[in-house]
Amino acid sequence: MDRAAYEKRMAWFLSARFGMFIHWGLYAIPARGEWIRCNERISVADYQQYFDEFDPRDYDPKAWAKAAKEAGMRYAVMTAKHHDGFCLFDSQHTDYKATNTPAGRDLIREYVDAFRAEGLKVGFYYSLIDWHHPHFPHFGDRQHPMRDNPAYKDHSYNFDTYLDYMHAQVEELVTGYGQIDILWFDFSYDHLKGEAWRVTDLLKMVRKHQPGVIIDNRLEASGEGFGSLLSLHPKPYSGDFVSPEQIIPPQGIVNCKGDPVAWEACVTMNNNWGFHGTDKHFKPAPMLIRKLVECVSKGGNLLLNVGPTARGRIPGESLHALKKIGRWMRDHHESIYGCGPAGLVKPDFGRVTKKGNKLYFHIFDNPIGYLPLTGLKADEVKSVRLLATGQELKIERNWVTNNYPDICFVSLGPDPVLPDETDTVVMVELKE
Ligand code: GLC
Repeated sequence: MDRAAYEKRMAWFLSARFGMFIHWGLYAIPARGEWIRCNERISVADYQQYFDEFDPRDYDPKAWAKAAKEAGMRYAVMTAKHHDGFCLFDSQHTDYKATNTPAGRDLIREYVDAFRAEGLKVGFYYSLIDWHHPHFPHFGDRQHPMRDNPAYKDHSYNFDTYLDYMHAQVEELVTGYGQIDILWFDFSYDHLKGEAWRVTDLLKMVRKHQPGVIIDNRLEASGEGFGSLLSLHPKPYSGDFVSPEQIIPPQGIVNCKGDPVAWEACVTMNNNWGFHGTDKHFKPAPMLIRKLVECVSKGGNLLLNVGPTARGRIPGESLHALKKIGRWMRDHHESIYGCGPAGLVKPDFGRVTKKGNKLYFHIFDNPIGYLPLTGLKADEVKSVRLLATGQELKIERNWVTNNYPDICFVSLGPDPVLPDETDTVVMVELKE
């Protein structure tokens, strides 16, 4: 791996820390999640009704981009094609695309234009799996909708024909939409990993057109397995970051030598990636804020998902959470962007992030008495401030903290209710 080139292309990603995942497509109409064809063994013919009626009249990517920006998100990754094979972009290699539905528009083109206009980096999610393509494995596959349909037992296919199609579509995406910042492939399984996708050719083509694009690790892995990125000799197609899914790695992610590896946790707001009409189990905004802090404190990014409706609207519950996250980010983004692990033991009261000589102590639970900054010595400290207001705080001792001479304490004042009940941040600047 060309380490210098890698660090150059990763710099913005590791600083951005927070992005929007967008799962959108025909599956928003049945509204039972993006795996509906697999889960309910729906044939291409029975799924066609959704293609014939897909008309997201309220699709307003500028509004989506504003919502992402105001939430403090610095990049976005949107589904260009999911496992159902439906293309949200105007591919010349298939008729199974948004431009041929009543929508009649290239939804991806409008997405990249709108999000770039708001200053966000743009990425594409592209499914390696394709349950619509005739030359993708059907019967006996792990999850194809027709995997156990006897009618497909003798279904003949030429996988190379599918791979030619898949490569051609990826080339459309990396040549037809300007600079692409992230390619989020999904996903490898069983024997379908690595060269089974002809990844060497694929990446040679991708890097030719988009030398700075960042790629996930799912050309050889999925949410399960990390791929060779953690090994002593990562494969050329290991990808640039690990993509833990619906989990925040308990201790962050390091390679076999113990060195930190870039990772991005992708998390849904409820329990579905695609829009789900009855899944109202939305994570509260305070929880999502604390999970963002957790990711950064462990050296990772958070890619937080929205699943727009068939009309093209981000669900109200998601917009509500994004607004509340944005309010917190407005006063506290300095403790997120460009930050990473602090190298201190995780405090009982919350988490710690660090950037340069500044430590950000995130207080989720107000302590009784003074705030213990375990791991810090008073003579290392240049200043202590409440991040949101810049208000000075003092390192103090009293007869009670004298029992803990090795710990540095900060007084937060008499009010047991902190300024921000989700996460009040104390910034400590260390002496150079
Ligand atoms: C899993 C699911 C897919 C989803 C992806 C997001 O791979 O199969 O539906 O898009 O996770 O990470």
